[in-house]
Amino acid sequence: MQRLKRSAKFAQATNLAEQADRGQLCLLDVCYGLGYNSAAAIETIWQVNPNCNITLYGLEQDPTVPIAAIDLLSDWSIPVQSALREIAETQICQTDRLTAKLLIGDARQTIQPLQIQADAVFFDPFSPRRCPQLWTVEFFQQVARCLSPTGKLATYSRSASVRSAMLAAGLSIGTIPLGKQHLLHEWSQGTVAAYTSTGLCPLSKMEQEHLQTRAAIPYRDLQLGDRPEEIFQRHQQEQQRSTLESTSSWRRRWQIDSV
Ligand SMILES: C[S@@+](CC[C@H](N)C(=O)[O-])C[C@H]1O[C@@H](n2cnc3c(N)ncnc32)[C@H](O)[C@@H]1O
Repeated sequence: MQRLKRSAKFAQATNLAEQADRGQLCLLDVCYGLGYNSAAAIETIWQVNPNCNITLYGLEQDPTVPIAAIDLLSDWSIPVQSALREIAETQICQTDRLTAKLLIGDARQTIQPLQIQADAVFFDPFSPRRCPQLWTVEFFQQVARCLSPTGKLATYSRSASVRSAMLAAGLSIGTIPLGKQHLLHEWSQGTVAAYTSTGLCPLSKMEQEHLQTRAAIPYRDLQLGDRPEEIFQRHQQEQQRSTLESTSSWRRRWQIDSV
């Protein structure tokens, strides 16, 4: 249930219900996994406009993950269940209102030939600590290239290094405000990025100041092919050379115990 709520948040943060009356939408799901973010998006769009034509691209390294979802589809409507099953089994799905392609491989490579203008990007890799290669300036440049001038990218990450990588890739950023229930040290549910700041929820003063600390030094991967260890090492060296405020002093100033 938690996962379903989280997937719906991506659809909400990218305003898909409001966009659905356009009749045609293009979605990019970075780290498709079980396909839940795509499923929630398709449900949201078709609830508003059952005739909306959707083009969906999913990027996923491990083809066994979407296959594993086949036994877990009962929460979705029948058309979405059959789309997810077909995408998992054949990596392609073509119906009268959905064209979907799942591109299997390292997203850093599979994104490069893509020539699309996505109205919504769901950005859902494992955390930067676990998968730094998908949170770099260079990868965000590729993702930004696939985003339409009016499209929105949503991610669960509120980290300063991720936000500054998005800014360095030419995007504006906004916060996803906290819901009613949250832990004391939390300050946001994630980040929305777009080419213009119109319609984005501005960062709080605390979040803006976070971007002035060493935590905001972004990960780099110049050729989109470095190993995580190389990316971490370069990042650590850059942090050591930095004259920016330390993140611990920012935490003390805002009385944040753990991040
Ligand atoms: C947090 S999960 C995504 C969850 C997914 N959005 C869902 O709704 O189930 C991260 C996914 O990223 C995939 N992944 C990890 N490294 C990748 C890479 N370099 N390129 C593409 N996918 C990758 C993993 O196989 C995993 O399925």
